[in-house]
Amino acid sequence: MNISVIGTGYVGLVVGACLAETGNDVICADVVESKIEGLKRNVLPIYEPGLEDLVERNQTDGRLTFTTDIRAAVESADVLFIAVGTPPDEDGSADLQHVLAVASDVGKYMTRELVVVTKSTVPVGTAQKVAAAVGREARFPFHMCSNPEFLKEGAAVDDFMKPDRVVLGVDSEFARNVMAEIYAPFVRTGNPVIFMDIPSAEMTKYAANGMLATRISFMNEVANLCEKVGANVDMVRRGIGSDSRIGSSFLFPGPGYGGSCFPKDVKALVRTASEMGMDLRILGAVEQVNQTQKLRLGEKLRNALGDDLTGIHVAIWGLAFKPQTDDMRDAPSLTLIEELLEAGATVCAHDPAAMKEARHKLGDRISYAETNYDALSGADALVVVTDWNEYRHPDFGRVKDHLRRPVVIDGRNLYDPEKMAELGFSYFSMGRAPVELPLAERVGEYA
Ligand SMILES: NC(=O)c1ccc[n+]([C@@H]2O[C@H](COP(=O)([O-])OP(=O)(O)OC[C@H]3O[C@@H](n4cnc5c(N)ncnc54)[C@H](O)[C@@H]3O)[C@@H](O)[C@H]2O)c1
Repeated sequence: MNISVIGTGYVGLVVGACLAETGNDVICADVVESKIEGLKRNVLPIYEPGLEDLVERNQTDGRLTFTTDIRAAVESADVLFIAVGTPPDEDGSADLQHVLAVASDVGKYMTRELVVVTKSTVPVGTAQKVAAAVGREARFPFHMCSNPEFLKEGAAVDDFMKPDRVVLGVDSEFARNVMAEIYAPFVRTGNPVIFMDIPSAEMTKYAANGMLATRISFMNEVANLCEKVGANVDMVRRGIGSDSRIGSSFLFPGPGYGGSCFPKDVKALVRTASEMGMDLRILGAVEQVNQTQKLRLGEKLRNALGDDLTGIHVAIWGLAFKPQTDDMRDAPSLTLIEELLEAGATVCAHDPAAMKEARHKLGDRISYAETNYDALSGADALVVVTDWNEYRHPDFGRVKDHLRRPVVIDGRNLYDPEKMAELGFSYFSMGRAPVELPLAERVGEYA
């Protein structure tokens, strides 16, 4: 099948490469020339495990091509995926300008009967707007499909290749048949393709992200309360996660959710509801809890080192909003770094994948370390923000030797508090009792 994907970000590139892998002829188009030039040379603009091999193989085999010529991409398509960004507008609603700009190009340049698929996360009613924009100029019949994407950055290729489910909102038998054919290779093990009407498909994506964000904020509040009442959130998590009605995923406390999806999708859903005269109180609270949770690491640092952070030097492990990605959009690390710089502290950071992105976002306002141990030199505390595997079992002897004070703030509960106590660290984690060395050891002798 001739498939074009407009927008080659995290979603578009994964979709394009995976659809080429199953034998389709795929054109990926984007307006950013440097991105496309890089991709033609197999230089990926993002870090995503497994994606580079896929792009290289399919490009070499001639099934995957990259272009900035949107017109050419539309002209040769039987199926066209719109995978451009939908960033939050000032009022929290999803900004549809890129989606609608593509739709209008589609109408202008289509050369045959076409299935137009919205892959971007868009509010209910968007497919109708896209159809109207395509229809204004279209000279051939077209069909709409809402196909929300559920991939997780860091495991995106796997998620697309072996989806838990595929959601397809369609408006015609034609679209249904074409989409069933495209997805057949990905659901051979029996995971469901769920066909539905278009508004339900659009809503499904927001409801899924709303639910996941709710679990995170819920668990973060439980963790904060555990600290107050002397409970251990790890035990509580295991205690509730083993209930089959609850399940164990997405119950880990942390420094708040970030990334390109949860923050904006929660806001957009709240906004959609308010346009309908409804107040989504739960999701409003989820968002608020998340914002305050992002301040918890700074609070813990102040608990450990005292209120005045002027001149304090902090090592940060992990900048990406989660492991296995270089994405720093709305990352908790950014909130912490801004807070520290504002307070007169200095920061040296390490991340296995997001250093380039961090330099782009933060420039020389912080310093960057080649290795996670280098980041510790002369630091008054280590703050672990992202749970990359390589931070899970560090050489604590080296950590202690490098740090100026043995203070570790663990935003991801990677370490065992008892062990940290034995090793002589002051150790503050999420929803668990702190391990506090006498203040003199922590602060006094260095003052
Ligand atoms: N990133 C994720 O994990 C994820 C998961 C599921 C769904 N989504 C949704 O998918 C959509 C895309 O997300 P993303 O993370 O890939 O975004 P992104 O910002 O990484 O990529 C969007 C791309 O679209 C391009 N673009 C913008 N306007 C264009 C136009 N008129 N023509 C051609 N290209 C254009 C941009 O240059 C950019 O390369 C969003 O709606 C997002 O909510 C994202």
